[in-house]
Amino acid sequence: MTPIFTSERIDFVPVSEALVPDYLAMINDRERVGRFIGRIQPITAEQDRWWVQKKLAEGAPVFSMLEKATGAFIGNIEFMDVADGAGELGIAITAGMQDRGYGTEAIPAMVRYGMDALGLRHVFLKVFPDNARAIHVYEKCGFREYDRTEDDVFMKITKDGLHIVPYTAANVPDVLSFERRLREEEDFWGWVIDDAYIAQVQKSFEGDAFRDALSFLAYMDGQAVGRIDACLIRSHFDGSTKAYLDWICVLKSYRHRGVAQALLERLRRELKTKGVDTLIALTAANEEAQRFYKSVPNSLMRDTGIWIDI
Ligand SMILES: CC(C)(COP(=O)(O)OP(=O)(O)OC[C@H]1O[C@@H](n2cnc3c(N)ncnc32)[C@H](O)[C@@H]1OP(=O)(O)O)[C@@H](O)C(=O)NCCC(=O)NCCS
Repeated sequence: MTPIFTSERIDFVPVSEALVPDYLAMINDRERVGRFIGRIQPITAEQDRWWVQKKLAEGAPVFSMLEKATGAFIGNIEFMDVADGAGELGIAITAGMQDRGYGTEAIPAMVRYGMDALGLRHVFLKVFPDNARAIHVYEKCGFREYDRTEDDVFMKITKDGLHIVPYTAANVPDVLSFERRLREEEDFWGWVIDDAYIAQVQKSFEGDAFRDALSFLAYMDGQAVGRIDACLIRSHFDGSTKAYLDWICVLKSYRHRGVAQALLERLRRELKTKGVDTLIALTAANEEAQRFYKSVPNSLMRDTGIWIDI
């Protein structure tokens, strides 16, 4: 089946009657799926086939997610009630595929599809207040709570709305687009984006070696427009953990819109939760960088940086 769009590990294909047994196994699992999507009564194969036919006839934006590597069914994802540039997101991942990072990968891909292909400016969703996992994943993907009742938490994401997400392996393609765009807008970047570089970046997300590295990405208009990279420094000097700010960069066309401040604020919050109280940065010599660092609250320029080649 030809995918309508794809992400790193997932093909998004139209719903189909051939997948009805997978849909039923997913949705009729009351404990691990049904109760989270308000599905109490079991669905029959006939009802499900009717649902597939109806969605296909309507040309509704509803897709089944298949694992690229194996073709196995992951779950369904859809926009409901698309009107006036807004749609409501729904997602369900079958029990055996949950907690493998597929939700975190699928949601931003679907939001981008909605914004790019369907012209959505807002994506809404509602989630049960006790569905802590879904709320955590939605927040990670940039959704923010805007209302709450006893029964539902309402969340949304807006097209040009700035949101900050942790940098994970799933974001590597977005970061490569960001880095290519940086070079189109300014031409002084010192490293080349070749296969060796991409492999090295991808490898940094494997295993434990980079567990002290903290990186966040800023998204606007459905694309990565900035990033911040830091790492923890542990020293026997006083037994403290400090952090070093390795890089902060925003696309030239998105500067002066609070992106860098939002990235720094997100990093600060993360460092606080880790008990880190000092973030050390070397400031680039250019005037724009100097101005930015001087405007950072509670910061002080002192000492002199030195680079020692090893
Ligand atoms: C909610 C759902 C879409 C998430 O997709 P997923 O692929 O399982 O999630 P991921 O593996 O991408 O991420 C799971 C995250 O939740 C965290 N998590 C797991 N259980 C959790 C819990 N009980 N409370 C808080 N966080 C939890 C994991 O640690 C992980 O976060 P991390 O990557 O920051 O460590 C999926 O589990 C699902 O379909 N569940 C059943 C139906 C449902 O709830 N749909 C949403 C209805 S609004």
